[in-house]
Amino acid sequence: MKKPITIFGFAGSLRKGSYNKALLRAAVELAPNDVKIEVFDLKGIPVFNQDLEEQPPKRVREFKAKIRAADALLIATPEYNYSVPGVLKNAVDWASRPYGDNAFEGKPVALMSASDGMLGGARAQYHLRQTLVALNMHAVNRPEVMVASVDEKIDENGNIKDEKTRAKIKKLIQSLVDWTRKLEK
Ligand code: FNR
Repeated sequence: MKKPITIFGFAGSLRKGSYNKALLRAAVELAPNDVKIEVFDLKGIPVFNQDLEEQPPKRVREFKAKIRAADALLIATPEYNYSVPGVLKNAVDWASRPYGDNAFEGKPVALMSASDGMLGGARAQYHLRQTLVALNMHAVNRPEVMVASVDEKIDENGNIKDEKTRAKIKKLIQSLVDWTRKLEK
């Protein structure tokens, strides 16, 4: 039997009704049996201050420990002004510091984005990919889960109901699992 894979997921939105959080909920639901996805809320992560990077706040220490414990990461990002929200970049910056203690080092990662606009957060996702290079992460290339007009793809409880979107998310998780196993060899 193959070793179970643990995935740690977070979304770059603090909004209760976040569409990007909905993508993560769908991923949890659609993951295969031997894959466990834990979702973390970035709420409570303070604004980065380099004076504190050697003794980061408790919530940041918790975040870094969970990143380190996971086999792979799953990030769902909104698009704010053609880029990633400050909330997400801020959390990533904390977990990448201090120099030499980057919690993301060498981890496999998959990305998703959702927007009520026409491009599904594509521009934010490509900005995030650039940051992943700085973090020395290994991103899955395909499928690209960029969910456009997401407000038309959710049910009354805010969950992703669109079958094509759900199928793509399922495929992305499988790609991340395959990629993670390949990198472990
Ligand atoms: C947005 N939104 C947005 N959408 C987009 O497709 N491209 C963009 O550049 C922006 N810019 C932007 C800036 C700011 C400050 C906000 C608050 C919003 C809309 C955004 O994609 C939408 O609000 C999503 O619903 C946000 O994601 P969550 O919170 O639903 O996960």
